[in-house]
Amino acid sequence: MQKQDILKQLDQLNEQQLRRLLAEHLTSRKLGLVWEADLIARDQAVNANIVLPKLIAESSCLPENSQHASQSLIIEGDNYDALRLLRTTHRGKIRVIYIDPPYNTGNKDWVYNDRFVSSTDKYRHSQWLEFLYRRLVLARDLLTPDGVIMVSINDENRSKLELLMDEVFPNRRLGSLVWRTRDSTSAKSANFSDVHEHILIYAGEGFSFTGRDKTQKKYKNPDNDPRGPWNGDPLTLAFDRFNRKNLYYPIHNPKTDTWYPCDENSVWRYASEKNLKDGATVRTETIEEFIKQDKILFPQDEVVKTWISMDELLADIDAGNIPVTPKRKRPLLSRDTPDLDFWLNKKVGFGRPLFKKHWKDLQSHTNPLSSWISRLTEEQDDEDVVSIRSPQAGEGSELIQELFGAKVFQYPKPVTLIKELIHQASKPNDIILDFFAGSGTTAHAVLALNNEDGGNRQFIICSSTEATAKEPDKNLCRDVCAERVRSVINGKNTQKALGGSFAYLQLDLLQSADALFELTPEHATLMLRLREAQAAGVETNEEVIVIASNDTLAVLVCPVVSKPAIKQLLAYPCERVAVYSDRPDTVEAAFIKAGRVANCYNLADSLIRTQKQVSGK
Ligand SMILES: C[S@@+](CC[C@H](N)C(=O)[O-])C[C@H]1O[C@@H](n2cnc3c(N)ncnc32)[C@H](O)[C@@H]1O
Repeated sequence: MQKQDILKQLDQLNEQQLRRLLAEHLTSRKLGLVWEADLIARDQAVNANIVLPKLIAESSCLPENSQHASQSLIIEGDNYDALRLLRTTHRGKIRVIYIDPPYNTGNKDWVYNDRFVSSTDKYRHSQWLEFLYRRLVLARDLLTPDGVIMVSINDENRSKLELLMDEVFPNRRLGSLVWRTRDSTSAKSANFSDVHEHILIYAGEGFSFTGRDKTQKKYKNPDNDPRGPWNGDPLTLAFDRFNRKNLYYPIHNPKTDTWYPCDENSVWRYASEKNLKDGATVRTETIEEFIKQDKILFPQDEVVKTWISMDELLADIDAGNIPVTPKRKRPLLSRDTPDLDFWLNKKVGFGRPLFKKHWKDLQSHTNPLSSWISRLTEEQDDEDVVSIRSPQAGEGSELIQELFGAKVFQYPKPVTLIKELIHQASKPNDIILDFFAGSGTTAHAVLALNNEDGGNRQFIICSSTEATAKEPDKNLCRDVCAERVRSVINGKNTQKALGGSFAYLQLDLLQSADALFELTPEHATLMLRLREAQAAGVETNEEVIVIASNDTLAVLVCPVVSKPAIKQLLAYPCERVAVYSDRPDTVEAAFIKAGRVANCYNLADSLIRTQKQVSGK
């Protein structure tokens, strides 16, 4: 509603009504992020026009004579339009989104309503949030139920973006990673040296990281345990005896009648039957049950001592002749140990019991650690830990310099970092989307990863031209992004040809009223191909295009109905067919005459209807 209309309505209220309304307004604040946004403009923007794709064959990189071409796409244009298009064609089909949006630095790196937003703009933060909100809401609908979105952001804007993400993706926050971008200090700030960024991660139910396959290195079977190889795991937890009273008790080895004191700062992991109150249950077996199952590994060849009198015990405590923790050598008995008498006249072991963790009981993989991306140079030999590893930010710029012989793009992300993120977040046949593609690092990373692990991941990336009034001919998407991806596919200026392909699309925006006249069969067939997640292939002279087919059903497009085309349609070896064409009545009549049934649709109508449906009109 416009402000004037609201004022008119308010004029009609009496004082009491106004006061009540004001009180309601003042108390109806919500927890979360608030920014200035024109909701009417937001709504109109989604439905302003219809977005249709146009294949630019000369900018594409498609295998010659390929029927199937590529599902990977580079889309030139404003990502808002690209996302509106993808909502029709790829709704619920994308498993991984990675974006590296403009960071709201006030630099000239993003355009809002056709103008740069400067650092002095009063509404800079609101405009940035609204800009991202509109795009994230569209992107949300593209994700599969178990899909994940990862967003790079600098430290300054992390909190705002995180609240925005919470709003768009409620209950889907998984965590965040911290990426150290460089070693050297930054000249920007007098206090802090700005050397890290964040990657926020939001995922749907069912998502899991690839993790890392466990290696059997540490698992051995020296005692021929019929359960197979095992590793001795600490039996302790990071809680003290005051926080976990029930887990602070002496462990007894029934075979040797030896007793082991508990560390008061790191209690035992499992409860003892003796400490359980009547009827109490525990989540896992008790220590006594584990001992019976031979899951507790008691030390052998250890020092064992028996104190006959308290004086003897206290003397050894003072002299440090008592059991200690293995790493920090903290004493396990002290003058303050409760029930010190208990330790008299008993065999006390100086070793530490361990838990026998069997290889066969392990999960197949470990998850990556949140919060830290370690450097490639850092050692990482702990099998239970997966840190995402990456070089410094400079790797991205060096690569661009190598490929183009000049720094044609500022601050690209390192391929290694994005490749590692995609490796952790995707499966080998997933579609990966980046709608702030810039120089195309995400596509490069997808191709490099496929090349490494034989995967068949597809990428969809969107990049703007970055053309301005000063540089009207600039086309970052075509000349840097697509060019880079083409180079790495073909191995130009790189060590290795990674292989792969992509279709290059531009976007046509048609006003709804004109769409029926301006829509071409090329638009329509391409759109349908994309919708069916099929290839956006080279333009074709085929009379009948197969969009999708299985044993019982085929979806066919017949851009221009003619006698030979109808013959081909009738000859298609499938029980049921759906045909999109410019003359559905003629096609239907031909099928009826042949004693067959076909679902016949008007190509142009169905395209327009689909786009309207997804935009909620
Ligand atoms: C931080 S850069 C991304 C860099 C990229 N990760 C790389 O490694 O090359 C953000 C990019 O988003 C682009 N961009 C900004 N607004 C856009 C929009 N509305 N549609 C498409 N791209 C946009 C900018 O032109 C810039 O290239």
